[in-house]
Amino acid sequence: MFQNKVKGCIQFMLVITCVCFVLGLKPAPENTGLINTVNYFRENAGQFGRVSLELKNAVAALDRKHPETITTAKEALKKSRMSYKKIEFFMNYFFESSSLIYNRPAKVEVEEPYIEYQEPSGFQVMEAMLFDKDPVADKESLIAQADVVASSAADLAALLYQFEADDKQILESVRLELIRVITLGITGYDAPELKSGIQEAEQSVVAISAVMQPFLRKKSPEGEKLSALINETVGYLKSHPGFDDFNRMEFLTGFALPMQEQLGGFIHAAGMDLNSKSAINYGAKNIFSPDALTVQAFYEQGGRIKEKAALGKKLFFEQSLSGNLKRNCASCHHPEKYFTDGLKTSLAFDGKSKVVRNAPTLFYAGFQYAQFWDGRAKNLQEQVKAVISNPLEMNGDHQLVIAAIKNKTAYRQDFSAAFPETGTDPVTMDHLADALAAYVMGLAPRNSAFDRFIEGDKKAMTAAQVKGFNLFMGKAQCGSCHFAPLFNGLIPPFYRLTEYEILGTPGNDNFKRLRPGTDKGRYDFFPIRYYEGAFKTPIVRNAARTAPYMHNGAFKSLKKLVEFYNQGGGAGLGLDVPMQSLSAKPLNLTARETREIIKFMQSLTDKPG
Ligand code: HEC
Ligand code: HEC
Repeated sequence: MFQNKVKGCIQFMLVITCVCFVLGLKPAPENTGLINTVNYFRENAGQFGRVSLELKNAVAALDRKHPETITTAKEALKKSRMSYKKIEFFMNYFFESSSLIYNRPAKVEVEEPYIEYQEPSGFQVMEAMLFDKDPVADKESLIAQADVVASSAADLAALLYQFEADDKQILESVRLELIRVITLGITGYDAPELKSGIQEAEQSVVAISAVMQPFLRKKSPEGEKLSALINETVGYLKSHPGFDDFNRMEFLTGFALPMQEQLGGFIHAAGMDLNSKSAINYGAKNIFSPDALTVQAFYEQGGRIKEKAALGKKLFFEQSLSGNLKRNCASCHHPEKYFTDGLKTSLAFDGKSKVVRNAPTLFYAGFQYAQFWDGRAKNLQEQVKAVISNPLEMNGDHQLVIAAIKNKTAYRQDFSAAFPETGTDPVTMDHLADALAAYVMGLAPRNSAFDRFIEGDKKAMTAAQVKGFNLFMGKAQCGSCHFAPLFNGLIPPFYRLTEYEILGTPGNDNFKRLRPGTDKGRYDFFPIRYYEGAFKTPIVRNAARTAPYMHNGAFKSLKKLVEFYNQGGGAGLGLDVPMQSLSAKPLNLTARETREIIKFMQSLTDKPG
């Protein structure tokens, strides 16, 4: 019945087109791609529905006496995933909540602030069960999961009932799909055990190609170039299907990023730009360009940004912000140490005792939706106010701080210049926090060897560093949490959320005599068990200069850190971490691969100043 309505809807559009034609009006030019896309979706949703039934039958046939049934079920899962990738662009863009039925991380997701739990469901939790020691033991849950997938898949066309969209949205949906391929697909984010990410990426690009066809029909040199790039990208993926040895750097610099650039240019030239969902600046060349994420998504850029940042820089070194007039932000965030202090945990206000956590770098700190290791401040302004009044850190009384700043004439001028609209009394705590935020927001040099390499300077990275990048984004799974392009917790492709994870970080780095960590992380802020020991995924850029590592500074070196991941985090090392979201399975990295990953991280060191 629903199908008929959609058909009706499309027939109606055809009628409108004809009426327009008769009246001498042009059909709305912006919707040439919509009908094609809806048809493509309908056809492939039908296909997906059939494949999902096969998956359901395959898990129902699981039998301990016939181990080949497990292989068959894994194959069926892979087939379903591949089929889903053809409609992923459409589902994730137009029906995001329905899309979660199929493909979502195999961990409990907490929706704040309502603290609703989203139990893991769909392919990824099935994958975890099928790759467990005894998948047949989970047969009932597998059948239940497959049932949910198959029954919703059977009904996908119903989503088209009264569906409305335009070509701009269609184009945005595929441009985001390409970013999904670049940042998630090839990292194994959604199929870590099946390792089908590359073959799945091919399906995604095939879908993009199908959607683009009507737009490319009108011949133009730019369109032809885009067509060629799409075909070459599909060709590369097809001829390099292996996950572990996939050369991600070659794929990105030679195919995916040029395709992204060309697609962006094509959409722009057609006047079809639309940014309805993401923090991405589509005007940037590609997702690795320094301006790929819009500052405005993270920080309200009102007022005079330059003057604010200059004032913020002064305040960063201003001791009047502290209760004893002896400390400033730089006491713990030394610019020459990439804005850290090199200590396990920072020296407290009294200059003797220690605060409980490690001082993180401030480079790129603005590009997150949560500040502090546990994300308890939602933006830089909040964070600044908290640090100033924290008795262990700066122990400053907000009113006294403002009074002290007001007493300095030079500051009053700086505040007036930065906040001219506020008249006679510009020196306020809000303005002070805003100015410091503006300064921190600007700490984003993006001039590392990696950045230069991806921009086209083929000499900027060594061969070992490139291998390290491929491992980071592939076999070692680092890129499935430290997301490109910043390699922090900003989740692609929308970049609207910052991720928390549970690694089971220990209290020390002697793996033979490991002490469990004691910091409960986000749990102290949101006391739910899925947050016990959860910390914000921090940035990896400049990590080579910001030892020691982790919220508690437990790891003295990157070598220790990679070894920790290689052994499966805290749980892999034998600690009791029931909610660990990092896979506890060893990564099987060789000593050489470990070195290459470290070398890649060294290529992420910026030249400050
Ligand atoms: C006593 C040392 C100390 C001082 C002084 C200090 N910080 Fe920090 N800073 C830290 C520590 C430790 C953390 C991590 C705390 C946590 O996560 O609970 C932190 C966290 C931050 C963060 C969050 C970064 C992120 O990625 O989550 C920002 C931003 C920051 N500080 C900026 C500042 C500014 C601006 C000032 C001056 C107003 C300042 N800090 C003063 C030690 C200090
Ligand atoms: C499951 C998600 C996840 C995966 C996979 C992951 N990380 Fe992390 N990473 C985190 C979180 C969360 C932290 C902070 C943990 C803490 O403070 O206890 C972290 C911390 C780090 C830090 C320390 C940063 C600092 O400033 O202290 C580095 C460096 C790092 N990871 C690199 C890597 C590398 C290299 C890999 C791959 C071998 C990797 N990560 C895989 C989530 C992840």
